[in-house]
Amino acid sequence: MLLTPGAALRSPIATAPLVAAMTLLVRRTSPGPAVRAADNPWPGPWVAPTVALVVYQRPLGYLLGLEGAALLRAFISDHDPAFTEQRIAEIRRLLLAPGLDVEGVDAERVTTAEGYAAWSAGYDDPGNGLFAIDEPLVRQILGPLPPGLALDAACGTGRLSAALAVMGHRVVGVDSSPDMLARARRRVPQALFLQGDLHRLPLDDACVDIAVCALALTHLPDLHAPVAELARVLRPDGHLVIVDVHHELLSLGSVPRIRLPDGRPGMLPGYRHRASDYLDAALPVGLEVRRCVEPGKEGHGDGEPPTDEADVGADPGPWDAWPWSLMGIVPAAAKAVRAGTPSLMVWHFQRRS
Ligand SMILES: C[S@@+](CC[C@H](N)C(=O)[O-])C[C@H]1O[C@@H](n2cnc3c(N)ncnc32)[C@H](O)[C@@H]1O
Repeated sequence: MLLTPGAALRSPIATAPLVAAMTLLVRRTSPGPAVRAADNPWPGPWVAPTVALVVYQRPLGYLLGLEGAALLRAFISDHDPAFTEQRIAEIRRLLLAPGLDVEGVDAERVTTAEGYAAWSAGYDDPGNGLFAIDEPLVRQILGPLPPGLALDAACGTGRLSAALAVMGHRVVGVDSSPDMLARARRRVPQALFLQGDLHRLPLDDACVDIAVCALALTHLPDLHAPVAELARVLRPDGHLVIVDVHHELLSLGSVPRIRLPDGRPGMLPGYRHRASDYLDAALPVGLEVRRCVEPGKEGHGDGEPPTDEADVGADPGPWDAWPWSLMGIVPAAAKAVRAGTPSLMVWHFQRRS
């Protein structure tokens, strides 16, 4: 199918379930070579290897973990002696609190396909606190660039596809989840959405001017193949923004959790990638670093920790609200641990010309 300059990118194939044997020609609005989506058959979802099939989550374990992490901060002199003594006293009280001596929950490891089938309906509503952090940064980095063809890789429900379209780009979104894609198509009807995998993007070499990949690489254990794919489809001098959940936030329990259709708790894969992991994947494939930021939630955990004592009479509440609801039981420890913890890792790369 040929898309004429300036024409809407909506096409019958955007609603086709598979991208098999599909060839798409997308012409640039400005003079320049035509770009082409590759003739890649949809290889089926790539399933990340997981280390444990079931994750045991015991609320008391999380509370003691927060107290312990706060004690480690104090051990390198972030806090005064009273803070350390309070943490130790709280640990004793937590261990004796009958209401907290409850069994843990077995959360089943689910694939991203299962996870996003369940999460797609609630993904945008109520949304995610991370959106308010990455969207201004994406606009700041990509806003000054001239309009072109933009790829939203692992586009989900089209949150950033919509932002790219507002910036004047023609947008191609790729995602492995049909449920997320269905929402993206409704949200950004002028864009083209393809089912595809980050390990094998259904696009030709050097065909996009800009690429974003947000909040998805954390689901993958190894960054080499997906980052090489992003570099492959980017034209020389093209810009890439990667947004990922920061490994420090993940360590506090920020791994997406969902209820399976039968009500059982499920956890999506969440891997902790360090700066060296992104660089090790990006530099050998011709991506040069323009910027790297590790933003946190403004005012979250900053300043002096509260003096409120642990509420050891509290009920740990439903699994669905953990771990954030548990933080409210030990406010001083939680605030000390969250202070200065980045929420995101944001990279701006440019492909070498
Ligand atoms: C947290 S959502 C992020 C969606 C969107 N980028 C955003 O920032 O709102 C993660 C998305 O990555 C997609 N995803 C996960 N693994 C993928 C893979 N291997 N290939 C393509 N998409 C993948 C999921 O289907 C999901 O839509």
